[in-house]
Amino acid sequence: MEPESNGTSLPLRLSPPFKRIVWLDNVDSTNDQARRWIAESDEVSGTVVVANKQSRGRGRLGRVWQSPENVGLWVSIVLQPARPVSEWFLYTLYTAVTVADAIESMTGIEVHLKWPNDVLVRGRKCCGILLETIARESNSYLIVGAGINVNQETFPGDLKDTATSIRIESGHEVSRRQLLETWLRVFSEGWDTLDTAVLQSWKKKVQYWGKEVTVVQGEKRVTGLAVDIDTDGALIIETAGMRQKIYAGDVVVENGPILR
Ligand code: BTN
Repeated sequence: MEPESNGTSLPLRLSPPFKRIVWLDNVDSTNDQARRWIAESDEVSGTVVVANKQSRGRGRLGRVWQSPENVGLWVSIVLQPARPVSEWFLYTLYTAVTVADAIESMTGIEVHLKWPNDVLVRGRKCCGILLETIARESNSYLIVGAGINVNQETFPGDLKDTATSIRIESGHEVSRRQLLETWLRVFSEGWDTLDTAVLQSWKKKVQYWGKEVTVVQGEKRVTGLAVDIDTDGALIIETAGMRQKIYAGDVVVENGPILR
C-alpha cells in the first residue's frame, strides 16, 4: 500500500520496519486506532498512523495528552519486534533516542532524555512516548505512540511551566512532515541491529546522573541519587548508601520542573 493522507498519496520513502503511513485529520487517539486495526486484521505490522488532531490523546498513567490541531506529530507505529516481549522496554529507550536524534539533526537544538520516556529541551518536555503491548500466545504487537510538540507557540495552564515545542526552542516553524520523515529514517536505520547498546545511547542523553531526584509514585515518593539504568530498564536510585530499582513513576529533578 502507498503512504496516504486521507486517501492522498504521500511521497515518503519507507524502509523496514515501516510499510505504510496513514495520515488522518482527526482521531480519538492514534494508539486506540492502532489497537482497532490490530483487532481487525493480521496485516497491520509496519503501519504508521498520524493524526492532525486527537480528541482523546492519552498519556502515561491514564493522563490526558493535549493534541491540538496541526501543531504536533501525534503518531503511533504498529510493530511486531523480533526480541522477546520481556525485552520490549528497549524499544521505549530506542524511541526516545531516535526522536531526540531526529530533532537534533533537523534543528541543531540540544535534546535530553528523562526516565522512563520523556524527551526534553532545556528541562521542558517536547515529546512524550506511550508504548503499549498487545501480548498474545503468537502474534504479539507493540504500539509505539509518540506525541511531539512541534509548532505550538504557547501552552495552556500548568503546561506553560513544563512543556515546550520545537518551534519555541528553535525560533522557527518546523515542517511536521519533514520531521516525521527524519524520525522514521533514523528509527529504521537502527532497527535491525537494535540491542542492549541502546541503554548506553539513552544514558548519554540523561543529564541528572549523580544528582538528587525524587520519583513520584502516586502518594509515594522516593528520593535519592540517580545512579544508573539497569539492564531491565529500571532506574537505580541510591538512598543512604542503599540502591533500589524503580520500575514506575515520574522523576522530579530537584530544582527542575515536575514534568508530566
Ligand atoms: C506521556 O508522556 O505521558 C506519553 C504521551 C504520549 C502521547 C502520544 S500522541 C500519539 C499517541 N496517541 C495517544 O493517545 N498517545 C500517544
